[in-house]
Amino acid sequence: MEKITSLAKRRGFVFQSSEIYGGQNGAWDYGPLGIELKNRIAGAWWKEMTQLHDDIVGLDAAILMHPRTWEASGHVENFTDPLVDCKKCKSRFRADMIPEENLAAKKCPECGGELTDTRKFNLMFRTHIGPAEDTASVIYLRPETAQGIYVNYKNIIQSNRMKIPFGIAQIGKAFRNEIVTKNFIFRTCEFEQMEMQFFVKPGSDDEWFNEWRKRRWAYYEKLGVKMDHLRWHQHGPDELAHYAKDAYDIQYLFPMGWRELEGVHNRTNYDLTRHTQYSGKDMQYIDQDNNNERYIPYIIETSAGLTRNVLMILCDAYDEEYVPSEKKSGSSEGSADDWRTVLRFHPSLAPVTAAVLPLMKKDGLAELAQDIRRELKEDFAVDYDQAGAIGRRYRRQDEAGTPFCVTVDYQSKEDGTVTLRFRDSMEQVRVPKQELAARLRREIKDYKRMK
Ligand code: GAP
Repeated sequence: MEKITSLAKRRGFVFQSSEIYGGQNGAWDYGPLGIELKNRIAGAWWKEMTQLHDDIVGLDAAILMHPRTWEASGHVENFTDPLVDCKKCKSRFRADMIPEENLAAKKCPECGGELTDTRKFNLMFRTHIGPAEDTASVIYLRPETAQGIYVNYKNIIQSNRMKIPFGIAQIGKAFRNEIVTKNFIFRTCEFEQMEMQFFVKPGSDDEWFNEWRKRRWAYYEKLGVKMDHLRWHQHGPDELAHYAKDAYDIQYLFPMGWRELEGVHNRTNYDLTRHTQYSGKDMQYIDQDNNNERYIPYIIETSAGLTRNVLMILCDAYDEEYVPSEKKSGSSEGSADDWRTVLRFHPSLAPVTAAVLPLMKKDGLAELAQDIRRELKEDFAVDYDQAGAIGRRYRRQDEAGTPFCVTVDYQSKEDGTVTLRFRDSMEQVRVPKQELAARLRREIKDYKRMK
């Protein structure tokens, strides 16, 4: 994880928030490569959920919601972690994350000092809206995006003529006052979720639950993730959230071990029933195709962390490789044995798709390379680099996860061909420059991970 954190900072994926002030715990900033990666991961999920599913539509609800929402959802009452403090060293722990014997003996796992009794700590951030800071002005930063979907479910049925079964997808920020925020961007106080709520007829929920488990597994397969680094974990009775009848996590083998990446939950009709009670509005679905049968739908939820997916994709792509000698197009320099760090992103997720590199700045090669870059950038995210030895430039692109390098050399001037170099195999082929865009499109579509 240290290597990934350091690469992420060095190459502008992720920076510590407010670093010049010593950093803000639980918050991170996404740099030029990081925001591109995050946007592409979000785009892949959005395409999967909306474009590829006729029965799912999108939504972007506000972060600030009526405070009654969180009473209805059960978060005011139940969204708590058990907390203990050490009276001696003042360290703070989640009681369920320290060894049981320490908890039983009330002994600090760090200094051996005495621990306080366990108390409940609500994870929601509370603030005030308006000028008066009294109980009437309390408002919460949403701890999950899901509730914005539930309160809009009737609006969407009416405006978009949706019929059950159907889903609503949303990507957005969520906030939790996490007690423990280690492991880089894994668990943070400000993060993003990609959630989809699928509304089904009661009685068909188990079937849909299994169907969504299958679909979410297939999604990661399609994304090119190492499938032996993924597994299912079913929640035991003591792990189930207050709203869930059944829940499975997709866990990923992060450097610190198996951890939750995404949850698939059967939330039953809990949320909509509670919103009916708290708002006084009828949240029943009227089935016009079935004698106006009325019921409160069950909800199958797929809930993935976007920022956690960024970490997963970084970990999954990270590789160090011994490279005995890499042939450099048209160049005799720098063939020394070497190690390279390479991010093996799927080309459709890579922040930069292709880098255009003139072998030399002189003799019109830079101008020719700039022309090629201009043409490619209409369709692809393209970088241009003319600084330093070509071997070093390849290494820089490998480290940024750029799947294709286009090298412009003296032969390019003569016959209009360029060298296309593949990040994973380091193979190089010559391609006529007018065929480059079509070739890149094909390579992205047919990409198969080698390692
Ligand atoms: N609406 C259901 C829900 O929020 P969750 O299991 O609490 O369920 C879903 O969260 C996903 O959101 C997790 O699988 C994880 O990927 C992400 N997530 C949750 N808390 C997070 C945090 N503090 N930092 C980063 N990601 C988080």
